[in-house]
Amino acid sequence: MQEKEIKEFVKNRYSKIAKKENSSCSCCSVTDSVTEQAQAVGYSTKELKSIPEEALFGLGCGNPTALAEIQKGETVLDLGSGGGIDVFLAANKVGDEGKVIGVDMTPDMVATSIKNAKNGGYRNVEFRLGEIENLPIEESTIDVIISNCVINLTPDKNKAYYEVYQVLKPGGRILVSDLVTEGPVPNEIRKNFRAWSECVGGAIEKNDYLNTIKKTGFKDVEILEQHFFTEINMDERIIGKITSIQLKAVK
Ligand SMILES: C[S@@+](CC[C@H](N)C(=O)[O-])C[C@H]1O[C@@H](n2cnc3c(N)ncnc32)[C@H](O)[C@@H]1O
Repeated sequence: MQEKEIKEFVKNRYSKIAKKENSSCSCCSVTDSVTEQAQAVGYSTKELKSIPEEALFGLGCGNPTALAEIQKGETVLDLGSGGGIDVFLAANKVGDEGKVIGVDMTPDMVATSIKNAKNGGYRNVEFRLGEIENLPIEESTIDVIISNCVINLTPDKNKAYYEVYQVLKPGGRILVSDLVTEGPVPNEIRKNFRAWSECVGGAIEKNDYLNTIKKTGFKDVEILEQHFFTEINMDERIIGKITSIQLKAVK
């Protein structure tokens, strides 16, 4: 599988989701309702009510802003921001003195999140079109990087974490929710475009994932929470082998 082909497939799928042409939640789905899906991965009803409803697509596998200890005035970057759910939650935490930037490679997702920001009256958020392997962000400018079920989608996780390291300020931190595997996954699934776009084809072994982050230079790499991940119609060969992790690390 070519990297370019995987990315085009992923982009196409999330474009359809942004335009609501694809009603089924394509990644991380445990129920048909986006609200229930969000609650199932850790968002509280209060959090969900505090942000624009249209930002919810039920695509996450955790709740990174709940664990990132975001402070007033900080600059936060969300990798693969989708409809903006975590950007808006972070924006409520950083306040007027802070700023939150969302980056996503799918133009229709970026357009949706910009519309959501406008409708919600957010003045401390910005959405940029771009790839996490080549971030449209200046070096050493970010205090906290969050991401929710996105890095599994990139064929080049080394490059993504390298970029993350570059744009963080020294002492900056990451809080990433992502899917990893524990145990062998059939090649047929690893080589399937749809499985990639549904966040399981590109999920790598947990220890390899942690080593990628350590090799990049991060310190204090720690898994704060993890749980087995399942979704509707999951291929039975991978049930019990996909884990959602919430991890923290420091530059
Ligand atoms: C599973 S969705 C998660 C969206 C959002 N984080 C959430 O929790 O709702 C993945 C998102 O990441 C974006 N994405 C996937 N690969 C990307 C990449 N290499 N660079 C930038 N964005 C990417 C997709 O366009 C999509 O919006």
